[in-house]
Amino acid sequence: MFGLTGKKALVTGSTQGIGLAVAKLLAGQGATVFVHGATSLEKCRRACEEVPGGIPVLADLGEPDCADTLYRQTGDVDILVLNASVQYKTGWNEITYEAFRRQTDVNFGSSLALMQVYVPHMQKQAWGRIVTVGSVNQYKQHPDLAVYAATKSAQLNLAENMARQLAPFGITVNNIAPGVIDTPRNSAALSDETYRAAVMQKIPCGYAGEPEDIAPAVLLLCSEEGRYITGADIPIDGGMRL
Ligand SMILES: NC(=O)c1ccc[n+]([C@@H]2O[C@H](COP(=O)([O-])OP(=O)(O)OC[C@H]3O[C@@H](n4cnc5c(N)ncnc54)[C@H](OP(=O)(O)O)[C@@H]3O)[C@@H](O)[C@H]2O)c1
Repeated sequence: MFGLTGKKALVTGSTQGIGLAVAKLLAGQGATVFVHGATSLEKCRRACEEVPGGIPVLADLGEPDCADTLYRQTGDVDILVLNASVQYKTGWNEITYEAFRRQTDVNFGSSLALMQVYVPHMQKQAWGRIVTVGSVNQYKQHPDLAVYAATKSAQLNLAENMARQLAPFGITVNNIAPGVIDTPRNSAALSDETYRAAVMQKIPCGYAGEPEDIAPAVLLLCSEEGRYITGADIPIDGGMRL
């Protein structure tokens, strides 16, 4: 079950954290995985050392031509995992226009641009898988994440719309919504014991998740076995949404 031999997958933001765990698992199931980042090709190459057969690709998803830049490096893929994001923690009345634009461009705008480039091949072959990575902030308001949360909700709405439109083509589109996951993004904040204890109190399971807690659900959604799941929004958050 869950074999992906012969499939090509692009996992955005897979140099570390959740994206890297997803890339590793998909590759372990036989997919050829494009390991993507924005910082440097060298960082993507280093991540590939953990992803059997991984191919490094580089693009800043805040750039208007990001989808073409990526497509030139990957060609067509069967599986698209839209995982990369940026997050600026700022009070709603202090968010600069630049921070607003950067989050909307990287977290939401690029998702549409990448679908526009990668979906036509999926339609032609009547098979495709798209997974967007949202956040528990879709449901839980955080005072310093108003715009970040809104980009995730916008992306979910797009995923649901696309799920309906693409279902007749054998393409599924689903969203997963992680809670607090121990990744490099959170490591500095969570190393503060007082802050960590306060956050853990908000999680019914009582602990932060690992990237490996997210990847198996993505594998299910990308597999043949997941063909009848589309338009779903799956919280993976230790109950934090409740
Ligand atoms: N960690 C959590 O607790 C949590 C909770 C809810 C939702 N999420 C969501 O889960 C996803 C992964 O989170 P994470 O914690 O694993 O993230 P992370 O550790 O911060 O890693 C982010 C990844 O995105 C890439 N990236 C950053 N800016 C980019 C840009 N402008 N263009 C293209 N790629 C860019 C990074 O590439 P470089 O390494 O090259 O910079 C890196 O591979 C995100 O969508 C995040 O919003 C995370």
